[in-house]
Amino acid sequence: METKSANILITGANRGIGKAVAKRLAEDGAHLFLAIRKYDAALVAELKKAGAPEVEVIESDLSTRAGVDSLVDKISRLKIDILFNNAGLLTGGLLEEQPIDDIYNMLQVNINALVHLTHAVLPQMLKRKKGLIINHSSVSGIMHLPCASTYAASKSAVLAFTNCLRQELKNTGVRTLVLITPGIKTRMFDKIEDLYGKNIETPKDTIPPEKYAEMIREAIVENLEVLNPSGLTGAALQVARYLPSVFERAVGFKFKRSL
Ligand SMILES: NC(=O)c1ccc[n+]([C@@H]2O[C@H](COP(=O)([O-])OP(=O)(O)OC[C@H]3O[C@@H](n4cnc5c(N)ncnc54)[C@H](OP(=O)(O)O)[C@@H]3O)[C@@H](O)[C@H]2O)c1
Repeated sequence: METKSANILITGANRGIGKAVAKRLAEDGAHLFLAIRKYDAALVAELKKAGAPEVEVIESDLSTRAGVDSLVDKISRLKIDILFNNAGLLTGGLLEEQPIDDIYNMLQVNINALVHLTHAVLPQMLKRKKGLIINHSSVSGIMHLPCASTYAASKSAVLAFTNCLRQELKNTGVRTLVLITPGIKTRMFDKIEDLYGKNIETPKDTIPPEKYAEMIREAIVENLEVLNPSGLTGAALQVARYLPSVFERAVGFKFKRSL
């Protein structure tokens, strides 16, 4: 899909991968609608300077049903060409040590809000026979590791949701793209060691968000349905996908739990 002059709604666009993608698409001349928690004048100025003809902030908090309802109401007047469901939260550690409120909050943002926003935007895309829904999954949605139980469950759900939807949308003109994202150097990645490090060896390899934004932009332009990781992570992903028991045995050597 062409990004120049497209109306693009991005959740969690104030930092990390969301911001990097917003900036890259601004350079293409996209109209940007940023669903973020707080108005950020510096961000708006930065994106306009990068080339976006229009940048609108739609203040929204995805952590409650009411927050998502309010966002849905505010975007009902817009013709969205691309919805990027990007906002996300990380949980981790041994399940019994994860605060239950954090788990509820993460599931609300990572999967409930994503499904709700897709449900809201889809009818007008179908009517116009045009649109792209980008959903942010993760390698954790396929590579199931100890300490990642709740986060991985949310990202597996994103992947399953998008895979089902892709089939429903065949020949409608509306498409989906699911991101099987590896380690990207953002604030979320920096939290992995704190949350998981006590019990499992954590990954260290990362890609800068700007480089990953370029890859996402290419996936949009080339009409990809899935953006898979490459290199060693890509190879490990294939093992997890096709030889899950081998993957699980290998991971077992990296995990420890004091009994
Ligand atoms: N970084 C990685 O290695 C990696 C790997 C795989 C997948 N991902 C996925 O990539 C996506 C972006 O993450 P990131 O790495 O860019 O992390 P990040 O820098 O921590 O950004 C997370 C974004 O989500 C927003 N968000 C969180 N809770 C929200 C809420 N209740 N309402 C609205 N927005 C909320 C944050 O907004 P605030 O600033 O207001 O909190 C922030 O903009 C996530 O879905 C994540 O799961 C990341």
